[in-house]
Amino acid sequence: MALAVFLQELDELARAAVEQFAAAVDGETLESARVAFLGAKQGRLKAAQKQMGNVGPSDRPLAGKRFNEVKQSIESAYAAAQQRLTGGSVRRPPDPTFDATLPGIRPQLGKRHPLTQTMEELKDIMGRLGFTVADGPEVEDERHNFEALNIPREHPARDPLENFYLATAGVGDPDSVFLLRSQTSTVQIRVMEAKRPPIRIISMGRVYRPDTADATHYPMFHQIEGLLVDHRVTMADLKSVLRLFAQTYLGSEVHIRFRPSFFPFTEPSVEVDYQWKDNWIEFGGAGMVDPHVLQAVGYDPEEVTGFAFGLGVERLCMRRHGVTDIREFYKNDVRFLQQF
Ligand code: DAH
Repeated sequence: MALAVFLQELDELARAAVEQFAAAVDGETLESARVAFLGAKQGRLKAAQKQMGNVGPSDRPLAGKRFNEVKQSIESAYAAAQQRLTGGSVRRPPDPTFDATLPGIRPQLGKRHPLTQTMEELKDIMGRLGFTVADGPEVEDERHNFEALNIPREHPARDPLENFYLATAGVGDPDSVFLLRSQTSTVQIRVMEAKRPPIRIISMGRVYRPDTADATHYPMFHQIEGLLVDHRVTMADLKSVLRLFAQTYLGSEVHIRFRPSFFPFTEPSVEVDYQWKDNWIEFGGAGMVDPHVLQAVGYDPEEVTGFAFGLGVERLCMRRHGVTDIREFYKNDVRFLQQF
């Protein structure tokens, strides 16, 4: 067989194979093209290989070289078609039962819990006032929950019946008796122990008290705590911050009122009420950080002063959305949760 004729046949074979692999529309047409060209017994490439034996011996190296090139191009055309079909980019014939105008099946998207949403928003508002977020543990020692906050051993707030003490050893040592924190004021101490003034933080999270659950109480709830310590901080600063905070979260028509009160860690202390329509509603406590607390963390009360506040997150969220029973937040009923 003349070399020229063999080479021409090889070219023709390559062209036909590339064309058919490119035209394959599914696994079936691809497979029949594969059998036709690359089949081990009857394939056309195999036939061409056999024909090579008829080419004159001096022409064989050239014929063999060309054969290998053609074999490679056919194999890669096959591989490309395979990739195209399994890669999903193939245009399949339209499915006559598919109606693009019917509504699809909506994926069920989850969302954040209303209290988490509330805390995110409170964090944003306070962030704009320059407060950064600090965190503290929910399992706390007596020093951070009471002692350093100027709550002495005899204080009724430390009564075992008012707290979730954990059964651990070390009774009498404020660093080794643990309880579920009853307030986020603990974080004030942790932050001041770790850092020098100026301090400007908020902290949000769960607190625990053995209250019987009813529409306004639950043994676990959330607080937002704020602390600002710097030179010449006054009660006017406290009131401005809490007013801005309330008006941003609840609406510009909301008014704020301070009522004299007592907390061991603030002096003077106040209850913070927000006016909602015609009612005054208590949202938490606040005051000027007591000098004893500043001393407990090694600050000099002659040099710096500060204010602190603690508000109930559930109360804020309930007021804003008109929720009337705190227990709704913890039932995990999607019919309630999906409304937020
Ligand atoms: N920790 C108090 C409570 O749970 C609330 C509170 C009152 C926080 C006064 C403060 C504060 O930071 O200054 O009842």
